Amino acid sequence: MHIAIIMDGNGRWALRQRLPRTAGHKAGADAVNAVVEAAARRRVSTLTLYAFSSANWQRPATEVTGLFALFKRYLHTQTSRCLEQSIRLNVIGRRDRLSPDLLSLIESSERATAQCSGMRLRIAVDYSAQHSLLEVCRRLRPTDDLDRSRFVERLAEVDHAALPAPEVDLLIRTGGEKRLSDFLLWECAYAELYFVDCLWPDFDERALDEALDEYERRDRRFGRIDESRLASTGHG
Ligand code: FPP
Repeated sequence: MHIAIIMDGNGRWALRQRLPRTAGHKAGADAVNAVVEAAARRRVSTLTLYAFSSANWQRPATEVTGLFALFKRYLHTQTSRCLEQSIRLNVIGRRDRLSPDLLSLIESSERATAQCSGMRLRIAVDYSAQHSLLEVCRRLRPTDDLDRSRFVERLAEVDHAALPAPEVDLLIRTGGEKRLSDFLLWECAYAELYFVDCLWPDFDERALDEALDEYERRDRRFGRIDESRLASTGHG
């Protein structure tokens, strides 16, 4: 199962506690640790977290700097935790605008966990699905013979994804907004969407279970008709 999460609401969480926004992001990073471990325990195969969208560069410089300091700290402290739990870490998104020290941390975390066979943890940093899709198109040559699986391989290349991404099964967005915000637009074609008011720093193992319970109740038809239902209503 592939779960993707838009971790929204750090700023509002901080405001409610009368703290600076950066404190909200720090609490958000703690929630990341808890949710990653909970997802791995539930044998989720891929977890993709939206940590920094390409649009987030427009935020005040102090907030952006604070967020990148958190990403570096995360890679520093959590790579060994990932190894212990056999979690394979991969940062997806653009790399041309990241600092050399963050880039080298990313590369060393990815190298260290490359052989891990458990959950795939993908952290999206400077990520924009529209940019990725456009970039695949830009790199096409007239002789390219594209089909879905080759397209997904190209997308993985552009995104610096270690492996082509499986389709998203469940997309969770915290913080009450109901939009995709340029996240995994191709991969979410048939995702079940789950929007919850809970602010990201408050999202925990129990909240994840509630999302998974709701997902279990969804009827995923992928455009098909459920023939057993037709038969049971006598219209089959
Ligand atoms: C959106 O909330 C959240 C972000 C732009 C940053 C997400 C970052 C983290 C959860 C922490 C660091 C992550 C890792 C992987 C270590 P917002 O600030 O837009 O919230 P608001 O809508 O309440 O203002």
